[in-house]
Amino acid sequence: MKIAIGSDHVGFEMKPAIKEYLEELGHEVEDYGPYTDERTDYPIFSKKVSEEVAAGNYDRGILLCGTGIGISITANKVRGIRAVVCSEPYSAKLSREHNNTNILAFGSRVVGTELAKMIVKEWLDAEYEGGRHQRRIDMISEIEKENGR
Ligand code: RB5
Repeated sequence: MKIAIGSDHVGFEMKPAIKEYLEELGHEVEDYGPYTDERTDYPIFSKKVSEEVAAGNYDRGILLCGTGIGISITANKVRGIRAVVCSEPYSAKLSREHNNTNILAFGSRVVGTELAKMIVKEWLDAEYEGGRHQRRIDMISEIEKENGR
C-alpha cells in the first residue's frame, strides 16, 4: 500500500520506527513531516496527510502526536477522512472492519513502539466488511455534505 505518515514534534521521535516497520512490511511510505523536533502544531501535518489521503494519492494515512487526539480530530475535519485514534489493536481492527477508517492515529506518549506496531499491523491487515456498515458510512458522508464539507 501507499501510506502517508505525519506527526507533530511529540510524535516525531517515534515516527522513524513506524516508518521503518511499514517499509519492512512492504509498504511505500512518504513522510509529510515535521522533519525536526522543533515545537510545532499538529493541525499542519494532519491536514497535509489527510488531504493527500482524501485526494486518493495514498491508500492510508498514519498520524502520531502526544495522545493521537488533536491530530485525529483535525484529520476528521477533512471530507472523506475517517480517522481513528487507538491505543490497542482491537479497536484498530474493528475500525477497519466496521468503519472503513482510512487514517490511524496514536499517541507516542500513550503507547510504546512495540504496541504501536501491533496496532498498525492489525489495522493494515483488517478488511472493511461493507454490508450493513455501508449505510452508516453513507450517513456520515451525508452529515459532511449537510455541513458544507
Ligand atoms: C503537544 O503538546 C500535544 O498537545 C500534542 O502532541 C497532542 O497530544 C495533542 O493532541
